Amino acid sequence: MRYFYKKTILAVIMLLLTGGYIHNVNLVKKVSENIVIKEKYVAITFDDGPDGKTTENLLEGLKERGVVATFFIVGENIEGNEEVIKKMYEEGHLIGNHTYSHINLMQTDMKKSLEEIEKTNEKIYEITGYYPQYIRAPYGKYDRQLEDNVDMIPVFWDVDPNDWNTKDCGKVVRTVVDSVSDGDIILMHDIYNSSVVAALEIIDELRQRGYVFVTVDQIILD
Ligand code: NI
Repeated sequence: MRYFYKKTILAVIMLLLTGGYIHNVNLVKKVSENIVIKEKYVAITFDDGPDGKTTENLLEGLKERGVVATFFIVGENIEGNEEVIKKMYEEGHLIGNHTYSHINLMQTDMKKSLEEIEKTNEKIYEITGYYPQYIRAPYGKYDRQLEDNVDMIPVFWDVDPNDWNTKDCGKVVRTVVDSVSDGDIILMHDIYNSSVVAALEIIDELRQRGYVFVTVDQIILD
């Protein structure tokens, strides 16, 4: 009787231990699955520049982090910022076209639209030896007629924190970090100091969450 009692106690203890053990194993497995960082891709894009000061600061921050971005350049901002564009190109960023004078292409006749685009491409080519292949239309105004006439790939966006308007760094960071998902294109502007600060914070936060920053050509080709 005593022996049986001891055996039962032992069995119960074993059961508890085994059960506990299995339970712990599951817990460990689950925790490791959560810890495993799955690679996710995101492209951060900057419109309306370059600006001698803010774009330069942004390039420094990107270089420190080893991160590449995409810049949609306004042609009339090129003069005087040639070195910034050269640096941008040499450091592996993708350069796209944002028209010459930031016009609404859908309210402009085709001849003038093509001039705006070609003039900007030529200026970028003169500095970098590279003809941009990607265009972001100001205000996202691009239609079928433009697609048929312009031999460039239009780029839109998935996440717009309205950085040019709010200038509230914390708000911009939260908006992007809370809404971004794998394969998204983020729209920002490199001509405001608040946007540059926010962009670098966004990059740090998203990299911690397993995001890898790529240029838009890599997102679009996927
Ligand atoms: Ni713009």
